[in-house]
Amino acid sequence: MPPEMDEIVRLSKQRGFIFPSAEIYGGFRSTYDYGPLGALMLRNVKNEWWRSMVQMRHDVVGLDAAILSSPRVWEASGHLANFTDPLVDCRNCHERWRADHLEPSPEDGRLHCPNCDSTDLTDARAFNLMFQTHAGPVQDEGSAAYLRPETAQGHFVNFLNVLQTSRKRPPFGIAQIGKSFRNEITPGNFVFRTREFEQMELEYFVPPAEGAKWFDYWCRERLEWYVGLGIPRDMLRLRPHGQEELSHYSAGTSDVEFLFPWGWGELEGIANRTDFDLKAHAAASGVKLEYFDQATNERYVPYVIEPAAGATRTMMAFLLAAYDEDRIGGEKRTVLRLHPRIAPYQVAVLPLSKKDTLTPVAEEVLGRLQPIAMCDYDETQSIGRRYRRQDEIGTPLAVTVDFDTLEDRAVTIRDRDTTEQVRVPIDDLVAQVKSRLGF
Ligand code: GAP
Repeated sequence: MPPEMDEIVRLSKQRGFIFPSAEIYGGFRSTYDYGPLGALMLRNVKNEWWRSMVQMRHDVVGLDAAILSSPRVWEASGHLANFTDPLVDCRNCHERWRADHLEPSPEDGRLHCPNCDSTDLTDARAFNLMFQTHAGPVQDEGSAAYLRPETAQGHFVNFLNVLQTSRKRPPFGIAQIGKSFRNEITPGNFVFRTREFEQMELEYFVPPAEGAKWFDYWCRERLEWYVGLGIPRDMLRLRPHGQEELSHYSAGTSDVEFLFPWGWGELEGIANRTDFDLKAHAAASGVKLEYFDQATNERYVPYVIEPAAGATRTMMAFLLAAYDEDRIGGEKRTVLRLHPRIAPYQVAVLPLSKKDTLTPVAEEVLGRLQPIAMCDYDETQSIGRRYRRQDEIGTPLAVTVDFDTLEDRAVTIRDRDTTEQVRVPIDDLVAQVKSRLGF
C-alpha cells in the first residue's frame, strides 16, 4: 500500500533525508536541502544511472558542462521563444497559476482559482521559465546569462568536441548529470516539482533512419532500470505524449510514469529530438555539426534520442515505493525496503554495548566493511531500537558485535526484510555481506 505523501515528508525530515531549505528563516520558496541520508541516497541514484548508462556500455561517454550559459545557446535551442508555461492571475485573491494545471469548474466549465474558487482569472500569458542572471560586474543586456533549464544543450554544443576526442561514431551517446533550474509557476508536491533540481540526461546520436528503432529501445531500457532497482512494475507505466503535449523539439515522446500518491506522474521523458538541436546550433553558430561516415562516404546530421530523468524526483519515487509498515513480534515497524544499491547505508555495524572491550573488534569489523559498502556505526540505545532505526532508513543489513565475538571471532548478520539473523565468522563477513547485497 503506497504511503501518504505526509509520511514521506515526515520521515525525510525526521531521519535526515530532505529538509526544507533555510528552515530557520521559515523556508525559501520550495527549495530543499538533502541531509546526511538524502545526500547518500541521491548520490546512489545518480551513481546507478551512471553505472548503467556509462560504465556498463561501450557506446556512451560522460560530460559535465557549465550551468551558466550564453543567451545564444538558448536563442538557438528555441528555449527563449518557446520554453514557457501559460500563466494566469486570479483577480480576486491575486494567486498565480499554470492555466494548464487548472480544472474547469463542473457547473460552467470555466477555469476557477484553486485558492478562492473565483472564475475571475486573467487571460493566460506565456511566462518563460528560464532564470536569467548576469555574468560579470555590469548588469546590462550584454552580460545576460542563463541558468540552464535542462542539461541537454551542453551535449549539443559539445557534439564536435566529443566526436573528435572520444573516437565514437553513431550510434553513440553522451551522458550528463547535474543541476537544472526552472522558474516554475507552481512548484509543489515536495521535491516532485522544484525550481532547482537535478537531471540525468542521455543524448543518443543515431543515423536518422534508425531513430524509431532506438526510441523503442530506450523506452524499454529505461523502464527496466526502475524495475531492476526495486520499483514494482505495477507502479510504473510508459505513456506516449499526445501531439498537443510535445515539446517544441520533439517528434515523439513517451514518459516513464510512476504511481504517486496523487496519481500517475512523470519520472522521465524519452524523446525523439530528431536533428532539431544540432541543426539549430549549426545554423546559429555557423559551425557544421555533422558526422562523416568514411565507410559509406556519407555526411549526415544525426538524430537524437533523449532519455531525460530527474534525479531528485526519482529519489522521491524510490522512497515512496520502498515505504512499508509491518508487525514484528506484535510491534508495528516502519521499514524502507530500498534496493541495496539505492539505500543510504548498506550495512550498520552495531556493538551490543558501548563497553570499551567491544570497541576494538567493532572498529575492526567496520574497517573491513567500509571499502565495500557505506556503513553506519551506532553504539547507543537498546539493540532493538537500533534495529528499528536502521529498518526505518532502509539499511539492508545490520552486523552486531557482542561479547561472544571476543571469544569466537564471529558476528551476527541481521536481514532488514526478513529480520532473520545468522552468525558468521569475521573472516567470512566481507564475502557474506557482498553476496547478500548482490555486490
Ligand atoms: N532535456 C529534456 C528535458 O529536460 P523534461 O521532461 O522537461 O525534459 C526531464 O525533464 C525530467 O527532469 C523530468 O522527467 C523530471 O523527472 C525532471 N524535472 C523536470 N522539471 C522538474 C522540476 N521542476 N522539478 C523536479 N524535477 C524536474
